[in-house]
Amino acid sequence: MRKRSAGAVWLGLLVAGMPDPGRVLIAVGLERTDRPDVLDVLRCTQSVESVFAGMGVPVEKLFVHSDDFPGLERVREEILCRTPLKVFNLFEGFSGDSGKEISFASMLENLGVPFTGNPSKTLGRCLDKESAKQLLAKGGIPVPRGVFIDKPGGSPWKGLEFPLFVKPCFEDGSVGIQKDSLVQEEAGIERTLRRKLKEFPRGIVLEEFIPGREFNVGFLGTPPYEVLGVSMIDYSRYSGSLPFLHYGSKWDPACVEFNEILPVLEEGIGSSLRESLVKTARKAGEVLGCRGYFRVDLREREGCPYVLDVNPNPDINEDSGFARQGQKRGYSYPEVVERILAYAG
Ligand SMILES: Nc1ncnc2c1ncn2[C@@H]1O[C@H](COP(=O)(O)OP(=O)(O)O)[C@@H](O)[C@H]1O
Ligand SMILES: [Mg+2]
Repeated sequence: MRKRSAGAVWLGLLVAGMPDPGRVLIAVGLERTDRPDVLDVLRCTQSVESVFAGMGVPVEKLFVHSDDFPGLERVREEILCRTPLKVFNLFEGFSGDSGKEISFASMLENLGVPFTGNPSKTLGRCLDKESAKQLLAKGGIPVPRGVFIDKPGGSPWKGLEFPLFVKPCFEDGSVGIQKDSLVQEEAGIERTLRRKLKEFPRGIVLEEFIPGREFNVGFLGTPPYEVLGVSMIDYSRYSGSLPFLHYGSKWDPACVEFNEILPVLEEGIGSSLRESLVKTARKAGEVLGCRGYFRVDLREREGCPYVLDVNPNPDINEDSGFARQGQKRGYSYPEVVERILAYAG
């Protein structure tokens, strides 16, 4: 496909009937940290800002600090001073406190300012993996069998089939997912659970490990959504790697899996499996009330897709899986960003 300039893209979208974006305020959290997943959001802010600046759209940044909470008065004032606008919401809470993401979106809803991505209710549902699973199961969507644990003791693994997987209930981006997340047998499980609970006292999820290929499906818009693409990881191709996406594989360039595992796009997925993945993922988005843009992570067991995780507002950096899916579909990076803005609500 011939590459078009950002300006041409913008004109094209106007011709296609996309609304005028007005002024864009990019909201992002600012904290002192060296955590790569947090720094990556700042990098994304720059990319999104460059897209709008390149299109000649007025764009400003709004940094949110932890001491703005609980009231968010300063932030509210700043937003009110800069109307008319849309907020491009890249605020994801702070390290160890993802819940602020929900309060921030809720504040934007109360102000009545259109903002990109998912509403506060959806963020709340998805940031609590156990609640999300329960809602999905109620909606008839296959999820791994498992239990929520917030205190040590008992034998919560009874009735579940090993191998099991343990992950924090209220984190994302593979935070807290390491080698010891995969538990092969009963011996030592109690110690692992105690250790994980100490690190994540709000709670962990212990569930059956789904060993098959991993997929993610990216979506844009409102139900029934536009499918951006389907990506696949076949762990059997990487003999020396752990068979799941742990923190290092997503964020640490020194980690073998970081360099080795790259999801393949729209290849090697039979058409009936692809159809079933998209159908299941779309339904998961609908059940959780997703809007704007989101990505559903799934794994396959005996041809059946299981939903592991629904990611509202996933990474949209230029080199992200989401942007790569867009490219494969024929959207340049500025077009993906513009579409996300167009769905602000
Ligand atoms: N039940 C499971 N079975 C197999 N792999 C899993 C399971 N749950 C999580 N994983 C692996 O861990 C990764 C991160 O888990 P996920 O639930 O997506 O949380 P996060 O919000 O941190 O991305 C997944 O991409 C997958 O590789
Ligand atoms: Mg995930």
